[in-house]
Amino acid sequence: MAGRGRPSPPAGREPELVPLDFDEALTLSDSETQSMDWSKSFGHLTVMGAEALEALAIKEDGVYVDATLGGGGHSRLILQRLGAKGRLIAVDQDPEPRAWAEEGWGRGEGRLTVKAGNFENLPELLAEEGILKVDGILADLGLSSRQLARRGRGFSWTCDEPLDMRLDPDGPLSAWEVVNRYPEKELADLIWRYGEERASRKLARAIVRQRPIDTTDQLAALAAKVLYRPGPPPRIHPATRTFMALRIAVNRELEVLENFLAQAPALLKTGGRLVAISFHSLEDRLVKEAFRRKDDNGDSPWRPIYKKPLTAAEEEVSVNPRSRSAKLRAAERTAP
Ligand SMILES: C[S@@+](CC[C@H](N)C(=O)[O-])C[C@H]1O[C@@H](n2cnc3c(N)ncnc32)[C@H](O)[C@@H]1O
Repeated sequence: MAGRGRPSPPAGREPELVPLDFDEALTLSDSETQSMDWSKSFGHLTVMGAEALEALAIKEDGVYVDATLGGGGHSRLILQRLGAKGRLIAVDQDPEPRAWAEEGWGRGEGRLTVKAGNFENLPELLAEEGILKVDGILADLGLSSRQLARRGRGFSWTCDEPLDMRLDPDGPLSAWEVVNRYPEKELADLIWRYGEERASRKLARAIVRQRPIDTTDQLAALAAKVLYRPGPPPRIHPATRTFMALRIAVNRELEVLENFLAQAPALLKTGGRLVAISFHSLEDRLVKEAFRRKDDNGDSPWRPIYKKPLTAAEEEVSVNPRSRSAKLRAAERTAP
C-alpha cells in the first residue's frame, strides 16, 4: 500500500501492478486511509481528478454518481468534498473494483453505496436506491490500468492468456467468440469501425484462415505478421487497434455510452452536471454530439461548461502517460 512505503512509479511509466490485499486494507487506521492514494494502490492512477472535481461543482449535501468506480480515485475525491448528508452512488460492472471499495477503502463509509451493474442501466440502479434525480454524474470511460495489466482478463498481449476482454466477467460475449465465430466481413467491419485499422480486411481474412485463435499472444503475433511494414519499428504495437476494436465490440462500449448519454438528462436535477472523461475519438465524439443535440423546438437539455474539451496538464502526463489521450467534457442540465 502507498502508506506502507511502496515507491511511487518513476515519471513517465505506468504504475507497477501491486496485488490487492483486502486483509491489509482492513487493518489500516483511519489516519492511514486518509492519506492513501487508493486508486494507485489498485494499480490505476486517477486521470484528471482535480479537473473532474472542478467540473462537477460539488454541493456538500448533494447526491452524486460515479458511474465508473474503478480504483475509487474519483469516488474518494468526491467523498472528500461531500458533507455528512451527501451521498455517492458508485457503479462498476467488474466485481473487483466493487470489492476494493466495499472491503477496502470504502469500508464503513456510510455515504457511499456501491452498485453492481452497467451504467447504461443507471435509471434502474438509482431507482433501486429510491433515487430519481441526482446533482452530478461522472463517467471516467474505458478500463482501468489494473484491468489491462491483470492476468486472466485477456485485454492485453503482454501476457499470453485466453481471449476474453469482458469488463463484466459474466457478460454474454467474449473476444474468443468474436474472433472465432464472426463472419469475415463482420470481423473486418468492426476492426475498421472501432479500431480505425486501415488493413482491416486483410487482417480479418488472415484471422479466418488461421482459426481457431485461442490466446492474446496468437492474435497479437498474427496481427504483427499481417500488418508488418518495412522501415523503422512502429510507435505502437501493430495489434493495438485490433485489440481496442475487439474490446469495444465485446463490451458494446459505444452503444452503452449512447444509451447512458440519452438517459442522463432525465437523471439530473436542473443545474446538475455530467462530466465525461474519454480516451479515444469515437467516445469523445459521442459525448460532444450529445451535448450539442437539440430537440425539435431547438432546445437542448445541456449547457456545455467548456467550449473545448479539457486535457491533462503536462505534469500529469509526465507521471501518467495514459492521461495523454484523456478529454474531459462537462455540461449542466438546463431547466426542462
Ligand atoms: C477508467 S476506470 C475508472 C477509474 C476511476 N475513475 C479511478 O479513478 O480509480 C473505468 C471503470 O469503469 C468500469 N466500467 C467501464 N464501462 C462500464 C459500464 N458500462 N458500466 C459500469 N462500469 C463500467 C470498468 O470496469 C472500470 O473499472
